[in-house]
Amino acid sequence: MIRFQALAEKYDTPLYLYDFDYITTRYNSLKEAFKAKKSLICYAVKANSNLSVIQHLGNLGAGCDCVSIGEVKRALYAGVPHYKIIFSGVGKRDDEIREALQKDILMINVESEAELNRVEIQAAELGKEARISIRVNPNIDPQTHPYISTGLHENKFGVDLDTAKRMYIFARNSDFLDPVGIHFHIGSQLTQLEPIREASAIVADLVRSLKVLDIDIRFFDIGGGLGIRYENETLIEPYDYAQAILSTLTGLDVTIMMEPGRYLSANSGYFLTRVLYEKVNGDKRFVIVDGGMNDLIRPSLYNAHHTIELIGKGADEEVSECDVVGPVCESGDFFAKNVSLPITREGDLIVIHSAGAYCSTMSSNYNTRGRVAEVALEDDGKHDRLIRRRETFEDMIALEKAYLKKD
Ligand code: LLP
Repeated sequence: MIRFQALAEKYDTPLYLYDFDYITTRYNSLKEAFKAKKSLICYAVKANSNLSVIQHLGNLGAGCDCVSIGEVKRALYAGVPHYKIIFSGVGKRDDEIREALQKDILMINVESEAELNRVEIQAAELGKEARISIRVNPNIDPQTHPYISTGLHENKFGVDLDTAKRMYIFARNSDFLDPVGIHFHIGSQLTQLEPIREASAIVADLVRSLKVLDIDIRFFDIGGGLGIRYENETLIEPYDYAQAILSTLTGLDVTIMMEPGRYLSANSGYFLTRVLYEKVNGDKRFVIVDGGMNDLIRPSLYNAHHTIELIGKGADEEVSECDVVGPVCESGDFFAKNVSLPITREGDLIVIHSAGAYCSTMSSNYNTRGRVAEVALEDDGKHDRLIRRRETFEDMIALEKAYLKKD
């Protein structure tokens, strides 16, 4: 049992809490599932980029999957070795490519022919050979939310098989490109195994046909996307996931790379918020809390379900339906609609579950609300420590205040 009340009192609300032991367990279970082959888990930093979360995973042996030079620098700052960092993303600026090459990361994941040309130019200027992988779009429907589906040709990600082949040949013939990897990622919050297996089979076949062309792919990057339980989703077990991937790789000597984000951190996290008051508009009951959509936007943005728990109320209390909403000036500012909760009082504590991925990283200062503090729980929840202090008003105006007109 997590000491939600005590932690809310110690650090105040709204607050993010992350159970680091949970992250360890998840990392180990994935690593274990792939033990039949060499593997490298590159944590998708975008899911939760707190430096201490990255450091924790780095200490377990993880590398990082980064989608901006900022994320690359975070990973390095948190102590992740440069040779375990990959840089992905559908659009990279020349200066980002250059810096990634200078930092000698494991590889740059390229998503278009135009980008490959740019990487070659930057590498030539630096007199380096850029290690690259190419993101293949296998045109598979991952059966997930359309906003987080990426593996169909109608999505902007990756290149089709023929283009990928052309790019590999171009890279093989270049003095400044070293094609070491191949990559696919068909979507996020995946709960069906078959689309992943199909995508992996298609990409593995491409690796075989590249071998014939004297292009030796050493890193087989299966992306991220493993779904987690927010509500009652069916889950893909790590063992089944590994077996499905391994079954497509017969005869290939590759290191399997993965880019899980949500799987590692989502259910480690809790968002703590206090009730400000209740009100009733007509027939509609609202519980108004001190956290808002700027802190945790997934319900507003994707209509995502996050389980809401009211702490300290007995199971026998009478409940009625309500919307749990924040103070932000938007009708879309809600954490849950039509949930059954007992009558709450000012100061009651509400815990929003599954808040460890794509929650703090997607938060903003909208309505000049400071980003909230983050706390790590360690040693079976016995120890807690601040890993990001609460943003102050001064923090929020720091980049603007020097530019006010003086008269
Ligand atoms: N690799 C690539 C290339 C990706 O695009 C992503 C996620 C990942 C790995 C990590 O995926 P994961 O294992 O976490 O599913 N904001 C959305 C999720 C966006 C995911 C974007 N890409 C949400 O809150 O559900």
